[in-house]
Parts: sequence; C-alpha cells; structure tokens
Amino acid sequence: MADIRTTAAVAAPETQPSTEHVAIRREDYRPPDWLVPEISLDFQLDADRTIVRGTLQVERNGDHDRPLRLDGDEIAALSVKVDGADADWRMDGPALVIDLAGDRATIETEVEISPAANTKLMGLYASGGMLCTQCEAEGFRRITFFPDRPDVLSKYHVRMEGNATLFPVLLSNGNRIALGDAAEGRHWAEWQDPFPKPSYLFALVAGDLEANRDSFTTMSGRQVDLAIWVRSSDLPKTQHAMDSLKLAMAWDERVYGREYDLDLFNIVAVSDFNMGAMENKSLNIFNSAYVLADQDTATDADFDNIARVVAHEYFHNWSGDRVTCRDWFQLSLKEGFTVFRDQSFSADVGSPPVKRIEDVRVLRAVQFPEDAGPLAHPVRPDSYIEIGNFYTATVYNKGAEVIRMLATVLGPEKFRAGTDLYFSRHDGEAATCDDFVKALEDGSGVDLSAFKIWYSQAGTPKVTARLEHDAAANAATLHLEQKVDPTPGQPVKAPMPIPLRTVLIGAESGAELAPERLIVLDEPRQSVRFDNVSELPLLSINRGFSVPVVVKAERRPGELERLAQTDPEPFARYEAIQELMMRALVAGARGEAADSAPVVAAVAATLQSNSLDPAFKAEAILIPGDSMIAERMDEVDPDAIHASRESLREAIGTGLSGALLGAHRSDGVEGHDLSPRAKGIRRLRTVALGLLAAGDPQQGAALAKAQFDRADNMTDRQGALGILASLDVPERQAALDAFYERFQDDPLVLDKWFALQAAAQRSDTVDQVLRLAAHPDFTISNPNRLRSLAGTFGGNHWAFHSPDGRGYAFLADILLDADKLNPQVAARLVPAFGRWRRFEPKRAELMRQTLERIVAAPGLSKDVFEQVSKSLA
Ligand code: BES
Ligand code: ZN
Repeated sequence: MADIRTTAAVAAPETQPSTEHVAIRREDYRPPDWLVPEISLDFQLDADRTIVRGTLQVERNGDHDRPLRLDGDEIAALSVKVDGADADWRMDGPALVIDLAGDRATIETEVEISPAANTKLMGLYASGGMLCTQCEAEGFRRITFFPDRPDVLSKYHVRMEGNATLFPVLLSNGNRIALGDAAEGRHWAEWQDPFPKPSYLFALVAGDLEANRDSFTTMSGRQVDLAIWVRSSDLPKTQHAMDSLKLAMAWDERVYGREYDLDLFNIVAVSDFNMGAMENKSLNIFNSAYVLADQDTATDADFDNIARVVAHEYFHNWSGDRVTCRDWFQLSLKEGFTVFRDQSFSADVGSPPVKRIEDVRVLRAVQFPEDAGPLAHPVRPDSYIEIGNFYTATVYNKGAEVIRMLATVLGPEKFRAGTDLYFSRHDGEAATCDDFVKALEDGSGVDLSAFKIWYSQAGTPKVTARLEHDAAANAATLHLEQKVDPTPGQPVKAPMPIPLRTVLIGAESGAELAPERLIVLDEPRQSVRFDNVSELPLLSINRGFSVPVVVKAERRPGELERLAQTDPEPFARYEAIQELMMRALVAGARGEAADSAPVVAAVAATLQSNSLDPAFKAEAILIPGDSMIAERMDEVDPDAIHASRESLREAIGTGLSGALLGAHRSDGVEGHDLSPRAKGIRRLRTVALGLLAAGDPQQGAALAKAQFDRADNMTDRQGALGILASLDVPERQAALDAFYERFQDDPLVLDKWFALQAAAQRSDTVDQVLRLAAHPDFTISNPNRLRSLAGTFGGNHWAFHSPDGRGYAFLADILLDADKLNPQVAARLVPAFGRWRRFEPKRAELMRQTLERIVAAPGLSKDVFEQVSKSLA
C-alpha cells in the first residue's frame, strides 16, 4: 500500500494534483460518522438540465464531534439548508462539509446536473433518448450530496417529474405510490422503497419504453409482477430474458430458500452501459446486450449469457441487496458469492460438466494471468486508488472459486446451513468477508479458519504432484508440494489449504481403484499413502477443478493418453486432453520437435466416442489459445506461439478430416432449438469446421460459406463468419459484406461484425482494425462498440503483439481518447499491456514505452493512472 502511494507521487504528471491518486486502505476503515436513515429525492428531469433536491434525515453515529461530510463528484450546490434555514457549509474538494451542533438534522441540498453531458455513464445520464442511472460503486455522489459508502443504509422516497411525451415511463426502486399530471405537458411519479439500502443500489429510469409483462408466484404464494422494459421495437427480443428470470426466481427458492421480497421486479435495457448489468433494488438496469435475443441475431452463447446475467443480478437481491458490503474491499462478498450462485444456476439448467469447463477456461485465461502479473491483488484487496479498477476476475471469478471450495469442503447440507445462517444473521446489514466465513462455520459446525488466507493472499498456488507405486506392497504414495510466487506488496507467502479431489485409476482396468478422496494439502510438502493399489495407477487429481491452482504432475509415458480416454470424471478427462495439447504447443513454441500424434489420437478418440455428448466433445478438442500458451513460456514470442498453434491445428485438420467432416455435418437440430443437446451439436459443428479449415483452407472456406449462406440462426452464421474472417479467400469479404448489409441497423449484431474482424488471425489485422476505427459505424462513446473493436483486438495475441508495435500504438491512442470521455471503460483496456515483462526484449521495450507514453498524457484519469502506474512498477 505504501508503495502505491510512493509510486503515485513519483509517477504522477505535474498537471495532476497528487491528492487525486491517494490509495484508500482497508485497514483505515472506520464506521460512518453520520447515518442517514431516510432520504427523499426530487428530480425535475431534463436531458440537459436536471434539478435534484435531496432531503436527508441525518443522525450522529457514536460519540464524536466531527462535521457532516457529504460526498460529491462534479456537482455544485445551488443551495444548502439545515432544518429549514440557510446554513454554514463549505466545500472540501468535491465534498460538502457542514458543522452540526445537535445529534440530528434535516439537510436539504439542491444541485443541477446535465445527463446529456455525462459521458462517464456514472450517475444520471442520457442514452438513446432515455435517462437512467448507474450508481455502483461511487456514482450516486454525481447525482446528489450524500455519504456515498455502502455501510450507510437509508429508506428512499423518490419523486420525479418530466415531459410526458419524452418520458412516459418513470421508474425507481420499490413501489410506485402515486402519479399524476403536471403543467406544460409534464407528469410525475412517486416511488418508495421499504427496504433500507446503500446509495449504490439507487436507480431511476425515465423514457419511452414498453414492457414485456409477466408474473411469478413465490413459494409462499405471493404474486410478483415482472416487467422487462425496452424500446417498443425490441419487445420481440425479450422473451428469453423473461423466461430466464422466472427460472432464476424458482432456482433461488429451491436451492437457497430465498424468496423475492417485493410485489414488483423491473428490468430495463439500455444501449450505453459501462458494465453488463446492475442489481439496483427491484430495478435492475441492463446493458441491452444481456437482454435482447432472438434466433436470428443472438448466438447460443448470447442466450446463455443472458440467462446467466439475468440470474446473477436477480440473485444479488439476497447476496448484495438484503445483505450488502460494509466497504468496497468486501466486494467479493457479494460478487464472488453471486458468481458462484449464477455458475451453479447455469450448470443446473444446462450441462454441469460443460459449464465447469467453460468457467475454468475463463478463470485460467483471465484470472491466472492477472494473479501472476503487476495488477495481482487478493480476493479481498488491501488498497485501491479507484475502486472501479477492482471489479476484476480475481474478485469475481477467484472469489467464486473460493466459495466453491468452501462448499466442497462442507458438502451441500452444511453449506446450505451456513448460507441460511449468513442470510438470517446479516439481513439488512452491511457485512464483511469474515462475517460470511463465520456464518458458514457457525451454521455447519466446521472450523474454516485455515481457509481465510484465500481472501488475503494473492497469487495462484503451484502444486507439484508425483505418484510413486510400490507394486510389491500394493501401495502408492502421492508426494505433493505447494508454492506461491511473490505478488506486488506480498513478497513472502504462507502455505495455503488446497483441497484436491483425487483418485487413482487402474492403467489396465481403467477403473477407479478406490473411492475419490478430498486431500487437503496444507503444508509446503506432504505425502499421502494409498493402499490396495493392485495395478499400475494413473493419477486423477484436482478433479472438477476443486481448487484454483496450477497442478504440475509428473506423468509416466502414456499416462495422459490413457486418462484422456478413461477418466470417468469429465473435467479430469478434458484436462488430460488439454494437457496433451499444451505439451505439443509449448514444445513447438520453443522450437523443439513437437509430436502431434498423441493429440491427434486423443482428438480422434474423443470424436469417435459414443458416450460423450457433442458439447463436451467441442470443448475437449478446442485448442488452447495463444495467451494460454504464453502463460507456460519463460519468454513470450507471439510469432512462435502462433506458428506452433497453427501447426497443431493443421495436423489435426489434415489427420482427421474424415472424423471432423462427420462432426461438422452432424445434423438434426433446428436453429430455434435451444436445448443443451442442440447447442452442443451446433458448437461442435463450428469447432470441427475450424480445424478442417486449418487443414485445408480451400475446402474449409467452401464449407464455411455454405454454413454461412444456409444458416437460419446466428450461432451457425457467426461461427462460419469467424472462420472465414481469418482465411485468405474470396469468400471472406463477400460474407463480411453480406453480414453488414443485413445487420447494419442492429447495433448488437454490428458489434459482432467489428469483433469478428478484430479477432481475425491474419497478418493484416492491425490495418483492418485501423480502418474499422475510421468506419462511420464506429463510435468511441458507446462502451459495447469500443469493446467490440479495441477490447477484442487487445485480446488478439498474435495481432496485438505485432512486432512493429503498431498494435500497441493503436490501443494506446484509442485508450487515451476514450479516457477523456469514460475513464472506467478506458482503464479496462490497460491489462492488455500488463504482462510486458514476460515478452521477448523488443516487444517488452515497445510495450514499456507505450505505457510510459500513456502515463505521461496530460489530464489522465485516476482510473487509467492506477492501472498503468502499477503495470510499470
Ligand atoms: N454489480 C455489478 C455491476 C457493476 C460492476 C457495477 C462494476 C459497477 C461496477 C453486477 O452485479 C455485475 O457483477 N455484473 C457483471 C455481470 C455478471 C454476470 C458477472 C458485469 O456487469 O459484467
Ligand atoms: Zn454482480
């Protein structure tokens, strides 16, 4: 923490006041000086000029004489009154400070804000003619003066008034208690939320919207009115979100015993949104990408994401709203837990093994690199400069893994007893990660104290495993070791408890030699004995990915090959195939002779299997991406990695063209069939096609063009176009043009068009991306569009790391432009540069220089400053 302050002071350009870059520290937490049990807000709505009057009932919290401090951000007070009279007040930077003599007061403030000029999309802003809010984490202070921290819980009363034609629909949290007409074509509505909530959960929407309405009857028989609000032309695309919402409501009742608590639940879709979606109490606001879908415009993955995000935000009603966070360091309390809940939900409504594979892939592709790089931080961070930078894969995905691990250790009944206690004990409170673990302990009667280090220690543990077989003694010994590398601010690491689901499998019989064990490695090294091992054993370890670690197991020749064919646990089987691939890929990237034969054989066996379902096959034969391979290299050479990966794909494509063609042609599903089986068949169809095209680009192009032309759904269409986009064939441009012609008026599909080209594995991708940035449909101010081009390109390992540095220059330029409008979204582009130290010297130097150029830019936001200065440190 101290080092961050030093870094800030040293690296901050002189145009920046250094106070802006001060780190906030977890250990400095103090309860709020003043509470606000009630707040009443009055909005006179107008896109250019909105007047906000706030009336706060404030109460001194504890015995102190500190003044009332109300946070503000880019707002100025037009008037301030205390108990109805003009009062003495002062500004301390952005905060409004009032000395109060008594223990209670009524504070009235008036501010003017401009939603149309709000390009940060935090606070009250305009999007496509409507007005909406985003307050998490610190957006409420851009609307009105308030102690904008999650441990100040208030009852909200909201009155809003605006033009009845522009804003026929007026929504806020809770229940609508009154509405009426006003002069000059205006109307008004009043809303009241009976549940006290922190300011980050406040929401308001005003716009010309229509609703898809439905209802849900809760387990205690109450009827809840559901509404999904969109522009009227989008109504036909809302049914999947509605179906997902009802499934999620029923699932939370069944699995966690959690019932919805109001008579109304609203979802609103907006096209300009920094994140995916937001869980405001009873008024969830969504990026339209996670609401709108139909067969023609959305892929199977889009449908799955919508179900997942709808469920996630709904689940927050308990894990986030009813029980909220004490401070932002506890963010994983709500996000890690809610991600675990949405992952379990998606597994239950789809295929659990395939969902597990997908979740682990994301963890390894995003969180492991984060945990090994300059932005590494614990699941519960110790300090931050800008909290917006801590909505990370570590807080979300690793946080979810930690809870999954606790659930594995406890087993389902005890875990449920623990979560029941957590919800009842902390209902209506702002809690901590410690409170969560304590409730699990008290509810289950199991001591979990050793596991708390998973919240405080950053870095991915590395486990080495060696299995020794003593045939004479009919026994085997598993030797385990663990190590955690240093991370910023944590040079020395303690051993962690690492629960590994493990079984030995007979090399001959292919059978499990004994029931699976949960081995908890909690010392630097440990040996575990297995008896009755009557045949040569194969080691199946960290099954289901029971703990988020890297396991390096010593393998006998042929062991992975055998596991890839026999392991009955689907994740472990997938893992064996992937590990075989990784060996060949790393050898190839190192310039060593890479033997693709074992991989080709494993892929062949997978494709031929009668017992595996298509979705699993598709996941299992997918080749790890360039950045995953890069994680395994001592020095990263993107060209060598790319060449190695292409050569393995080609070997599979040529070696297995018959089997791949069979998988590609497997049919019998309709485009609108969204069953897990149909989705699996479509997925395998395109994965197989990609490999075929790697073996024979001409044949691949013809097949892809045919799939593209015939497609009656976006999954097949986008799958085919994605393959064509990387090929050097005449079909490529024709298909891209046809796609554009057909979908140019649909922004969410146009995002795909930009993203497909930014993801292309071609030597001219940088040129294409520069051209696309000048395309009339490109705009830097819409976060989805910016991410589809710049975000996707930053993740295109080979193209982004073009040796001439043009990829770096492009991303830096667009990031700096974006930072002037929307720092939160700009900062999310920085991690593409984060691991510069691992690259070969020329690229490393180019990346470092680019980071230096960014940090020296005048007027840099603290969001980008924090990410860049930490990346350089
Ligand atoms: N609370 C967040 C939304 C949020 C994130 C607000 C960052 C402010 C800053 C929401 O619950 C969330 O986590 N959304 C995710 C999607 C989810 C399915 C993981 C998102 O927006 O990406
Ligand atoms: Zn969330």
